[in-house]
Amino acid sequence: MNFTTDIFETYDKQWALLTAGSMDKFNTMTISWGGLGTIWGMPVATVYVRTSRYTHDFMDDNEYFTVSFYPEEMKKTLGVLGSKSGREIDKMHMPELTAVEAGKSVSFHEAEVTLVCRKVFKQTLDPQNMEAKIAEQFYGKDAPHDMYIGEVVDIIRR
Ligand SMILES: Cc1cc2nc3c(=O)[nH]c(=O)nc-3n(C[C@H](O)[C@H](O)[C@H](O)COP(=O)(O)O)c2cc1C
Repeated sequence: MNFTTDIFETYDKQWALLTAGSMDKFNTMTISWGGLGTIWGMPVATVYVRTSRYTHDFMDDNEYFTVSFYPEEMKKTLGVLGSKSGREIDKMHMPELTAVEAGKSVSFHEAEVTLVCRKVFKQTLDPQNMEAKIAEQFYGKDAPHDMYIGEVVDIIRR
């Protein structure tokens, strides 16, 4: 397994889709926070999901999730998936995206790279343990983020 990228730039500027569920019931949302690294002797991907997101339900209900990266021309679609909830629009049948099985989870045919992850850890980020400025800015009135760590079990390239 090999994945080479400028991960800071990739998450912050290019964004990604976080998808969880099965082909008959899944949800996806845009993310720009995340990490890649190593823990417990495993290659891992870390994502942060506010408890208010519809995707959060799918992250809790499924053992696997995917993080997928797209070419620039998909940015508009990622903007929609990052501003509308799967509770309001049908994210399973977006005209610009074709859902495909990715290991035991779901990704999209249009992805350049998909990381298939097996959930191994979840914890709520407690604002009390943060720098006060960050706690105030990000959690003054918004729901907390849950951090999920997934073992990267496969990397799929288009
Ligand atoms: C560029 C961008 C990055 C985002 N990153 C995150 C993120 O890392 N974590 C998160 O919880 N929400 C993030 N969001 C917000 C969700 O994508 C957004 O609330 C989405 O509508 C949730 O969809 P859902 O309710 O179908 O899960 C981001 C939105 C955008 C546009």
